[in-house]
Amino acid sequence: MEPNPLREGLEQERVPEASCLVIFGASGDLTQRKLIPGLYSLAHDGLLPAGQTIVGFARAAMTDQAFRTSMKDACNEHARTRPVDEAVWENFARGLFYVQGEFTDSGAFDRLHRRLREFDSSRGTGGRRIYYLAVPPQFFSTIAELLGAEKMVRDPERDGPYTRVIVEKPFGHDLESARELNRVAVTTFRERQVFRIDHYLGKETVQNLLVLRFANGIFEPFWNRQYIDHVQLTVAESIGVEKRGNYFDSAGITRDIIQNHMLQLVSLVAMEPPVAFEADAVRDEKVKVLRALRPISDAVRGQYDEGSVLGEHAAAYRAEEKVDPRSHTETYSALKVFIDNWRWAGVPFYIRAGKRLPKRVTDISIHFRPAPHPLFSKVAMTTHPNILAIRIQPDEGISLKFDSKLPGPTLRTAPVSMEFRYATSFGAEPPEAYERLLLETMLGDATLFARRDEIETAWAWLDPLLKRWAEDASAPALYPSGSWGPEAADQLIEADGRKWRRP
Ligand code: BG6
Repeated sequence: MEPNPLREGLEQERVPEASCLVIFGASGDLTQRKLIPGLYSLAHDGLLPAGQTIVGFARAAMTDQAFRTSMKDACNEHARTRPVDEAVWENFARGLFYVQGEFTDSGAFDRLHRRLREFDSSRGTGGRRIYYLAVPPQFFSTIAELLGAEKMVRDPERDGPYTRVIVEKPFGHDLESARELNRVAVTTFRERQVFRIDHYLGKETVQNLLVLRFANGIFEPFWNRQYIDHVQLTVAESIGVEKRGNYFDSAGITRDIIQNHMLQLVSLVAMEPPVAFEADAVRDEKVKVLRALRPISDAVRGQYDEGSVLGEHAAAYRAEEKVDPRSHTETYSALKVFIDNWRWAGVPFYIRAGKRLPKRVTDISIHFRPAPHPLFSKVAMTTHPNILAIRIQPDEGISLKFDSKLPGPTLRTAPVSMEFRYATSFGAEPPEAYERLLLETMLGDATLFARRDEIETAWAWLDPLLKRWAEDASAPALYPSGSWGPEAADQLIEADGRKWRRP
């Protein structure tokens, strides 16, 4: 490949020390689609240390060899760097092991512990442990308790190798259950040992929000109520609930996407500059945004009906597998949000998330106030407000829309865009979110993970709305699959004289 001057100096230098990473729930979908392929891609890029050891733990009976074979298939199907490179795979697979057991069986934890100690000497993992809980939340407390009881967790206050735990969402179903999960976590671990994954924080473009705002001098002076009219955030998916009807029907899109991923985006867009790019400094500022959220008064929920998405027929949500045929669960949600602080007073953030929309796109747009005096309006036709659009995925990039003079003897204007695209500027696929987050855990940097108070503040804000909806006997508005959601969502923004942007 030709050297690309824009990539100079981009090489990731940080390689962690070897540890034992134990994945509880190793036979699940997440392990096959994201975790092992992500770890393999890190190995492929030379970012895993020699001796890194990965141990799958699950109920199914399997040998180390059978686990390796099935993980190789998973990597061939899902890894960013695929098909697998035989030489890299061989080396990576030498560090892959499997322990069979129930999450409630102390005997199995004892076996696991003995194997981990063997690896400490045979593979040089030195007592360092990362436990990845890729399991439904009801197993969380049992696993944490057994790890504690079997003395598999080291107190970080004492010198010596670290123990860390990675927890997958959902972090509760509401404020009370989230508090309970957090309470359980801190009986075995200290807060700084807990890495709560929100995979949106692992996305390059999400991290770039901080770089855009705080590594450049020109945006921050305009990033406030004086210049910004409103902000829009969209997480649109073309897929439906797929095979997750069971989980989704008890959650809904507001819990599934808004409570975590979208509130992370809102926090990053709205936060004050942190004093340092460090875990607590960044998270302190994010949580201040969440605390300033005004109770929600404008919200619309919808549910997809039959329709057509990307040219394919799509069934109604209520006809999906493992979904209650009379379900009131929302698959679309739009909220008008205010952040009651000095920077954002009076600036609405319109946020929406939905399944079975026309396409998959995550987009943030900052809509600036119009020019203060309409100098050209009589002759120039309409002018258009400036928009800074940040495309999180796909076609990752940023564009700035502004008016320009149309060539010709009369003074007429038209909107044009200045574009930055990751693919053309950097000529490389951004790494998968999970790769980054696994690496950060190994390095012990929690900046890209959710802290306990973030999770609880987010639930405290959403709980009243979710309760209102649960008590409301009327069903969510239906929208045809393949449309941009229910009409009421258009009215939500149009009532303020604004329109949803079509990303
Ligand atoms: C997950 C949700 O957290 O995020 C899914 O549970 C959703 O319902 C997914 O599809 C979206 O992630 P991404 O990275 O495809 O935007």
